[in-house]
Amino acid sequence: MDYQVILVENNRLMLERLSSVIRGTSGFSLAARYQQAGDALGQSAMFKPNIILLDIDEKGNLGLVPEFASAFPGAAILCISSHWDAKESDQIAQAGAKGYLVKPFSSEELTEAVQTFSKSGMAQGSEVLAFFSPKGKSGKTTLIANLAMSLAARSGEPVGIIDADLQFGDMAVFFNLEPKSTIVEATRDVKFLSPITLNPYFMAVPEAENIRVLCGTKKPEFAEMVEIAPFEDLVRMAQSLFRYVLIDLPPGFNPISVAAAELAATTYMVAMVGGGFEVLHMKRALDVFKAWPDYEQRVKTIFTRVSPCTEKERELLEQELGYPVSSIMPNEYLLVSAAANSGRMAVDVQPDTPLSKNINRLSKDIMGRRIQWGAP
Ligand SMILES: Nc1ncnc2c1ncn2[C@@H]1O[C@H](COP(=O)(O)OP(=O)(O)O)[C@@H](O)[C@H]1O
Ligand SMILES: [Mg+2]
Repeated sequence: MDYQVILVENNRLMLERLSSVIRGTSGFSLAARYQQAGDALGQSAMFKPNIILLDIDEKGNLGLVPEFASAFPGAAILCISSHWDAKESDQIAQAGAKGYLVKPFSSEELTEAVQTFSKSGMAQGSEVLAFFSPKGKSGKTTLIANLAMSLAARSGEPVGIIDADLQFGDMAVFFNLEPKSTIVEATRDVKFLSPITLNPYFMAVPEAENIRVLCGTKKPEFAEMVEIAPFEDLVRMAQSLFRYVLIDLPPGFNPISVAAAELAATTYMVAMVGGGFEVLHMKRALDVFKAWPDYEQRVKTIFTRVSPCTEKERELLEQELGYPVSSIMPNEYLLVSAAANSGRMAVDVQPDTPLSKNINRLSKDIMGRRIQWGAP
C-alpha cells in the first residue's frame, strides 16, 4: 500500500509544487494538504497518515511537532524547510520529528528520506549497546562484529556500529572497509548534520546490507579531536538511523566510555579468559558501575575464550565474580581470525560452531528484551 502523506505548507505555490511531486512519486499518495498546521491537526485524523510533511519555515509550526506526534502516533513526522538550520535540528529531534528534508524536494529525495527514516528504529525505540572492557585484548571487537551480523540477519533491522575505540579502533579492518569518513569527521560535523546527512559517514558493509560502520580514527593522535558533547549528539542522531547502535569502546574508564555507557540501554563488560586476573578486573570495573542505582539491569558481563565453554564453566565464573555472567564465548581463535582476515564473520562463515550459536543466543536475548521508550 502507498504511504499516505499529509502535507502542511503555508506558501500556496510551494504547496502546489510539493503536492505534484508527492503525487508523482510511486509508492506515495497525497491524503490531504493544508496551508495551516492547525487545520491539519483539527481535520486530518481520519486519513490515518503514515507520513506528515510539516513546513517549519512557518513560525510556530516547529512548536507543534509534539502535538502532531501525539495526534498521529502512527505517522512519521518529517520537517521540511527551505534552508538547513543547525540549531533547529536539535529542536526537531527533541520535538519528536523523525527527520528533515529541504524543500523543494524531488521524488528521489522524498523516497530516500522515507526509506532512511522508515528503516530507522526511532519509532520502535532504538537501543544503544555499549561494549566496555576492563583491559585491552578482550575479544570485544570480534564479539561486536559477529553480534552485529547476527542481529542484522535475525531482526532484519538496521544495525549501526560506532568504532569509538579512539586510538586503536580496528572495526574497519574487521569488515575490510576503506573508510572515507570516520568518527573524527562525524563528530566535527554533527552540529550541521541531520540523520539523513549523517548516514553517509557510516560505511556500508558489502556482505551485510543492514549493517553500517562508523570507522575509528585513522591515526591514534586523532583521538583527541573527538569531543564528548558532539560524540553524544552523534550517538543520539545515529539512533534515528539504526534499530541497534553498537559502540566499541576503548579499554578502561575514560570520558568516552563513560559517556557511551550513560547513553546505552545496556553496557556489556567483556573480558577474555587467559591470565587468571580477568575475574578480578571485572569485579573492579563492576564496582565503578555500582554508582548507578540500576546497574544490575544495565550492566552485563561476557567472558570470551572460555574453555571448556559449558554451562558449568559459566556458573563457576559467575560464582567467582559474584554477579551474573550473561554470556560466554568459546576459544575459537582459528575461526575468528580466519574469518576476519577475509572480511567476513564467524557467524556467517560457520553458523553451526559453538561460537556462532552463543552469539546468536545473545542476539536473541537482545531482540527479546522489552524496553519502555518515551514513557509519557
Ligand atoms: N572467542 C575467541 N577465542 C579465541 N580468540 C579470540 C576470540 N575472540 C577474539 N579472539 C582473538 O583475540 C584477539 C583480540 O580480539 P579483539 O576482538 O580484537 O579484542 P579487543 O577488541 O578487546 O582488543 C584477536 O587476535 C582475536 O582473533
Ligand atoms: Mg578492539
